[in-house]
Amino acid sequence: MKLLNIALSKGRLSDLSIELFENAGVDTSELKDCGRKLIIEDTKNNIRFFMVKPGDVPTYVEYGAADMGIVGKDTLLEEGRNLYEVLDLGFAKCKMAVAGPPEMKDKLDRFDRLRIGTKYPGIAKKYFEGTKGRQIEVITLSGSVELAPLVGLSEVIVDIVESGRTLKENGLVVLEEIADISARLIVNRVSMKMKNEKISKLIADIKKQL
Ligand code: PRP
Repeated sequence: MKLLNIALSKGRLSDLSIELFENAGVDTSELKDCGRKLIIEDTKNNIRFFMVKPGDVPTYVEYGAADMGIVGKDTLLEEGRNLYEVLDLGFAKCKMAVAGPPEMKDKLDRFDRLRIGTKYPGIAKKYFEGTKGRQIEVITLSGSVELAPLVGLSEVIVDIVESGRTLKENGLVVLEEIADISARLIVNRVSMKMKNEKISKLIADIKKQL
């Protein structure tokens, strides 16, 4: 039986991803309590799971180190990798949005060079320079992005909004919505052909749960 390698995102997506595989008949007992281990095996089903940072899941899958993976659409949009996005898993739903102080609502177009604080420089550039056709300055941050407009580092931010709590508690609002985000199942292009039977069966078992 061919070995299937699956990259899972550590953090927000991990519990629901594990539940999905458990309901698809995979032995997830070790996955649920993996501590600092990075490779977890289900020897009976010949499946190996790799625990990686969300932003690295598409990299493992594109290069074929992992045959499949679960990752947020935000990461896929940012990374723009060459792989198959086969299923919208329907969980971890949120929005990619432009947010800022409420008074920025009608002022976005007045800035010659709007400064955008973001963990998603690719998405911000594509949205403002591509879709809206305007020049911006992207300031790349690695977290607590909402701070940027509060302290004058940027006029607005591009970030994910889930419950809206972080924006609300910092006096910010959504100014424009960019995209709907949720967890996606992705597959390496070559694996889809070489391990088709095993991958298709797993996709079908996951699909039944959606
Ligand atoms: C994310 C995101 C927002 C927040 C949105 O940050 O960047 O800050 O969650 O969620 P909410 O709408 O439910 O408040 P994360 O928690 O990943 O932390 P970070 O700021 O360190 O990136």
